[in-house]
Amino acid sequence: MRAVAVFQLKGGVGKTTSAVNLAALAAADGIPTLLWDLDPQGGATWVLGEQAQGKQNKYWRGEQPLGSLIQETRWPHLHLIAADLSLRKFQQSLAGKTAARQAMTDALSLLSEQFGLVFIDCPPALTPQMEGVLRAVDRLLIPVQPSGISLHAYQQLRQQLEWVKSKQWLPFVTMLDKRKQAQVRWAREEASQFRELLPTFITQSASAEKMLELRQPIVTALPHVPLSRSYRTLWQHVKPRLNLR
Ligand SMILES: Nc1ncnc2c1ncn2[C@@H]1O[C@H](COP(=O)(O)OP(=O)(O)OP(=O)(O)O)[C@@H](O)[C@H]1O
Ligand SMILES: [Mg+2]
Repeated sequence: MRAVAVFQLKGGVGKTTSAVNLAALAAADGIPTLLWDLDPQGGATWVLGEQAQGKQNKYWRGEQPLGSLIQETRWPHLHLIAADLSLRKFQQSLAGKTAARQAMTDALSLLSEQFGLVFIDCPPALTPQMEGVLRAVDRLLIPVQPSGISLHAYQQLRQQLEWVKSKQWLPFVTMLDKRKQAQVRWAREEASQFRELLPTFITQSASAEKMLELRQPIVTALPHVPLSRSYRTLWQHVKPRLNLR
């Protein structure tokens, strides 16, 4: 099994949109996939049209087994650990980085019996507990907005998390607005020099907002719109980098 955290320090950069659509694409490929919503805002839970049936923080406090939190979704091979507001206490529930890492490692070891892939939709904050979670996973999928400053912020994050091995980083550009000359130029000239970035872009698209209304991943709701196409291309680049067995 592989565990992928979709993470960024910055809010509103497309973490949830990416986590939901990549999880749906993995499931559609027949991979038993779990989407773990770790953000108390519950965006991923909302988009899948689900509701938390328990309090996730009870797991983090050691009061409830993880299995009871795993729910089915409307899509074959796709399961969910839903988020609810109890997750606001996530930080207080774990003593620090080491405790969080251990709890996540234990969780992933259990999940590996049932799943081939776990996507974790993270909140936009690097607390010691989040760092513990990131230490337990196999890959960090990082949405980067199309600008020099976002790329710089990514490089700083990479320096701060210096223990993450090179191959574990999967940064990619999101929300590229093709109508904006400066962004298109940046993508063509600067981003293409930056070998680490996955060689594909997620474009700015009104279909992303539509997901919130439809409460479905865009790749299943409207598979032919450009946003779905860009997520399918992204998945084609991410999948081989996961070394799935
Ligand atoms: N490619 C896109 N084009 C246009 N809008 C997008 C795109 N991707 C996401 N959005 C919109 O931007 C907003 C933020 O996206 P999303 O919730 O995925 O970001 P996030 O990084 O998970 O945010 P947060 O840090 O709050 O969890 C949402 O309203 C979403 O619909
Ligand atoms: Mg989010």
